[in-house]
Amino acid sequence: MSVVPQISFAKLSTPKKGALLIVQAALNDASALVNDADPENVLAKAAASAKFKAKKSAKLDVLAPASAPVSRIVVLGAGELDKLSIEDWMSLGGKARAALANEEQVTVQLSGSGAQAAAFAHGYLLRSYDFDQYKTKKKDDEEKPSSQTVSICLVDVADAKKQWEIEEAVAQGTILARDLVNEPANVLYPIEFAKRASALKKLGVEIDILTEKEMKKLKMGALLGVAQGSRHDPRLVVMKWNGGKAKDKPIAFVGKGVTFDTGGISIKPAAGMEDMKGDMGGAAAVTGLMHALAARKAKANVIGIIGLVENMPDGNAQRPGDIVTSMSGQTIEVINTDAEGRLVLCDALHYCNTKFEPKFMINLATLTGAVLVALGQEHAGLFSNNDELAENIFNAGSASGEKVWRLPLGPAYDKMIDSKFADMKNTGGRYAGSITAAQFLQRYVGETPWAHLDIAGTAMSSPASDINTSWASGFGVRLLNQMVADSYEG
Ligand code: BES
Ligand code: MN
Ligand code: ZN
Repeated sequence: MSVVPQISFAKLSTPKKGALLIVQAALNDASALVNDADPENVLAKAAASAKFKAKKSAKLDVLAPASAPVSRIVVLGAGELDKLSIEDWMSLGGKARAALANEEQVTVQLSGSGAQAAAFAHGYLLRSYDFDQYKTKKKDDEEKPSSQTVSICLVDVADAKKQWEIEEAVAQGTILARDLVNEPANVLYPIEFAKRASALKKLGVEIDILTEKEMKKLKMGALLGVAQGSRHDPRLVVMKWNGGKAKDKPIAFVGKGVTFDTGGISIKPAAGMEDMKGDMGGAAAVTGLMHALAARKAKANVIGIIGLVENMPDGNAQRPGDIVTSMSGQTIEVINTDAEGRLVLCDALHYCNTKFEPKFMINLATLTGAVLVALGQEHAGLFSNNDELAENIFNAGSASGEKVWRLPLGPAYDKMIDSKFADMKNTGGRYAGSITAAQFLQRYVGETPWAHLDIAGTAMSSPASDINTSWASGFGVRLLNQMVADSYEG
């Protein structure tokens, strides 16, 4: 198992054993590297010979001499400290963990604020994440300690502790979302996902789970049409966090939770289909977000809704050409059974809007391959009917490092999903695939401020970064936690 660090904060003092990591501002002169834990000045010597100037991302790793109280000293270059963003501090934490993964006891010395130290800890914890519970043979187990304690030393300990209480809640939300996305679909099917979401009860989240029968009664024909080819029953999970004033309207988050997407009768090619276990990344982000908000006791009333289905080909599966009636009463011609996410979301969004009358709704979905063509893995696609909401999300993206880029909506795109036989069809042809998918969703939100985040490129198959080496990123938890904190609390 990967070793989860036990992180705490303390006043600056000389460590007595273990490894020391120094977060070091840029240096002109290597002889400035003096430290109580380095009585023989090996750091200055090593820095001079390696021409180490503590530039951003540079690293100096020295074995401490016998006279030193520690066994190893790592100096992590931070460049100009006053230029570092919160994202940079998270990256430094991630780099620190990468350098020290095999140490049992770590002391960190940094000169930063409480918020910066907490961001460092946040990155450190996220980098330590490893989804390895299905590996029965662990080759380098002998080298890995069974535990790791990390003491982060700085001036303002009290502030760091306060900030870390918040940041740790958010990190745990991201870790929950990563676990859900990494989990294979034979383990994580709709009922099992609903069970895992139910665990949020222990944080004070109210959980309501709608069964297939209840969804039939509500006439959720679009969501149920996707589910009908699967042996696994669908579920709709409603999570409620009441941290705001009783009279405040809630804000709402809605997630696509296709626990596996074969494409259905419009079946996908075999190559890469295994990735479709991650087609519940939107639902995972909403669940992780609810964890984060509840664990840090956010001062807001928040609804989280996830539509959980499995999209399978089967004798009972829906066919291309089928016409289904959504809960809103609007009819849909199913052109392609692989455009199933919008069918799940349209009923979840309509239910959310009519039942809770939220201040706004934001949905997250691994909705289209086309968003990867447009934006790659750097930005999630953002679509909205409301400029203020879109701006708040965009700004939260810049602040949290989970970036989004807004794409257009408009009547000419909307026309592309008009159907010969029904009110609309579920695909709009080859062009502008991410936009026509968003137009489809917009037909279900009425006048309510709404935003759609297409996270097909950012939730899974993640490139390795300083704060994540796992396939799943947990994208959306930090972004939306930031947005709630900056714009909708208090
Ligand atoms: N789940 C997929 C989208 C996806 C693709 C997610 C790659 C993650 C990585 C979605 O259900 C889908 O199949 N979309 C189709 C829509 C098309 C049939 C209009 C697509 O993108 O090809
Ligand atoms: Mn699909
Ligand atoms: Zn899908």
